[in-house]
Amino acid sequence: MSRLLHIASSPRGAASESLQIADAFLDSYRAANPDHEVETWDLWDGSLPAFGPPAAAAKMTVFGGAVPQGQQAEAWQAATETFARVDAADRLLFSVPMWNAGIPYILKQLIDVISQPGMVFGVDPAAGYSHLLADKGKRAAVIYTSAVWGPPLGPEFGRDFQSSYFDDWLRWTGIDDITEIRYHPTLTGDADQARTEAHAHAREVARTF
Ligand SMILES: Cc1cc2nc3c(=O)[nH]c(=O)nc-3n(C[C@H](O)[C@H](O)[C@H](O)COP(=O)(O)O)c2cc1C
Repeated sequence: MSRLLHIASSPRGAASESLQIADAFLDSYRAANPDHEVETWDLWDGSLPAFGPPAAAAKMTVFGGAVPQGQQAEAWQAATETFARVDAADRLLFSVPMWNAGIPYILKQLIDVISQPGMVFGVDPAAGYSHLLADKGKRAAVIYTSAVWGPPLGPEFGRDFQSSYFDDWLRWTGIDDITEIRYHPTLTGDADQARTEAHAHAREVARTF
């Protein structure tokens, strides 16, 4: 059975544009797939482990072919469990506001926690990276929102390291079936119109996701 995990990175609750678009997506998805499991993970709910000194040390220990011990083992176990939570889903919906041209730090924290050798990637000194989530039938939909920057605007309104970074990370994991839903009203655009279009696009994508 299919399992959809919505990974939410806006902390703005009912005021969040990306979460409202995600709600439209999930309503439509549930209507089209009443028997599928659907879960939302609010990354701000306190369940995402830190990736500090023991975790970084554990990663280098594993790279070196050894087994993490003590505090490193605890951090590695937390990373393993977090990865398993994400990997259990074959459908991933990410809601991703632009923060300072990039992504919210809590989403980068998730990336740092789960992007581990043997989980998301392998690496060969000669051939480079292998992408361990490839060919597992995984699909991703990503909701990108911003308020100042928008695709037609030049660098005086900022630059898009939000989708360029996040899309690259998804593809590095091996997930290449990716659909984007965008809401970039800009400061001079018609926000209501842009919102209506983004919600309609989300509902449409969700029907066949
Ligand atoms: C901390 C923070 C940083 C932001 N940085 C940018 C930015 O660099 N460029 C931009 O266009 N909008 C920026 N915004 C505006 C948000 O991207 C925009 O309001 C978006 O819709 C927020 O998503 P949300 O409503 O789901 O929280 C920022 C907002 C916050 C709270």
